Amino acid sequence: MFFFSKLALENFDNLKIKKNMKVTVVGAGNVGATSADVLAFRKIASEVVLLDIRENFAEGKALDMMQTATLNGFDTRVSGSTNDYSKTANSDVVVITSGVPRKPGMTREELIGINAGIVKGVTENLLKHSPNAIVVVVSNPMDTMTYLALKDSKLPKNRIIGMGGILDSARFKCYLSLALNASPNDIEGMVIGGHGDTTMIPLTRMASYKGVPVSQLLDAEKLKKVAADTMVGGATLTGMLGTSAWYAPGAAVAALVDSILNDQKKLFSCCVYLDGEYGQKDICIGVPVIIGKNGWEKIVDVKLNDEEKAAFAKSADAVRNMNSILSTLAV
Ligand code: 2OP
Repeated sequence: MFFFSKLALENFDNLKIKKNMKVTVVGAGNVGATSADVLAFRKIASEVVLLDIRENFAEGKALDMMQTATLNGFDTRVSGSTNDYSKTANSDVVVITSGVPRKPGMTREELIGINAGIVKGVTENLLKHSPNAIVVVVSNPMDTMTYLALKDSKLPKNRIIGMGGILDSARFKCYLSLALNASPNDIEGMVIGGHGDTTMIPLTRMASYKGVPVSQLLDAEKLKKVAADTMVGGATLTGMLGTSAWYAPGAAVAALVDSILNDQKKLFSCCVYLDGEYGQKDICIGVPVIIGKNGWEKIVDVKLNDEEKAAFAKSADAVRNMNSILSTLAV
């Protein structure tokens, strides 16, 4: 009887509704608010706290989201806070989107002077109240902000994840699906390297349409255009919208948080700390990783050809160059 009841209890436990999963999103601008909204209506978290420095701004957006609960059928508790980090206490995952977004014609890298101090302060405040949280960095220049958050917090490297590659890979798959007139969800593809207009690397050689290499379906010219459009995917939208995009970035944040909270072991391109992998040390940059309850759990060593290796090294040099600017800032 004992054996049966123990087994039954274990199974019941697995069937139990998700344990309390709390996510804090700092920055209630377009990207942060969209992240919170997707986390709520996809029922990824049981509680979402949206924090901003603007008086009542996060509270207003959170209340507006809660008023969609009966329409979108979720029970996630979404609340807002005007810079009161005590409301973020005991978060399982904290997402940093705060800082200024780029304007048309700007590069992400030009934001470093303003955003570095913001990201440092936000990381410290968050970890004061959620010392065991996994940290997702979105603020740009994202690779350097991720490196800053890791170095300043001294957290174990697996608990700091930069979100850029998931977004870039989603854009890559979107452009491939348009070129192929295919369902986007039939496309597999990944972008690695820096999250920059000239530093990201769409891995065209490995992309496929239901397992069929896209190089067998699109000519070299078209594939080159898809890769080029992907690299400036963010800048293109900033030019159209007058500010950074938010739907795809918000959805990308939610997909990453989902794999963490629900231990999904998804393979994503994320910005993580390298200690020799891909020939790089002491840098945070986009590589294929397995994402689970412990944050990034394993770096997947994809075999790159010489051209891809050279592009990755060049990308790492550009990111490292940005990182070196941190020491010149009073952060
Ligand atoms: C983007 O590429 C915000 O960096 C983000 O849209």
